[in-house]
Amino acid sequence: MLSHLIRRFFGHITARALSPSEQHDISEWLTAPLRELFYAQPVGDQRHAYSVAARVPPHLREAALLHDVGKSMCGIGAVQRSLATVWAWLGLPVWGAWECYLTHGHRGAALIEIAGGSELSVAFARHHPGPTPEGFDGEAWFALSTADDA
Ligand SMILES: [Fe+2]
Repeated sequence: MLSHLIRRFFGHITARALSPSEQHDISEWLTAPLRELFYAQPVGDQRHAYSVAARVPPHLREAALLHDVGKSMCGIGAVQRSLATVWAWLGLPVWGAWECYLTHGHRGAALIEIAGGSELSVAFARHHPGPTPEGFDGEAWFALSTADDA
């Protein structure tokens, strides 16, 4: 868990903005309302989501690009995110922006649903990281989860 947290932390703070060619990919892969959600994310989350999308088959890209959009609503950076994760891991109570961050999946899922995202995108945002929910393709879920964790 610690190595994952450290990797994520440095990945987030050193992330490069998407290049014009990567932005072109986004315009091909997402509808306008979904692009708006994608670009509302901080650069670090955009970079992470793009990397996840690059590791999955084309039909899973939308879910990959949007799975963490709920984090952008919480307004906290890499340090606070890491602290919130450790705090919750220790079983300590959280509230405010930290609670928002730790429940970003549900918030993101609601945004994706409103913006017309697929059922899979909504479900993956809501339930990741976690087992495949009833009614979804286990192989697709595994591909997304593995790409998210890489
Ligand atoms: Fe992620």
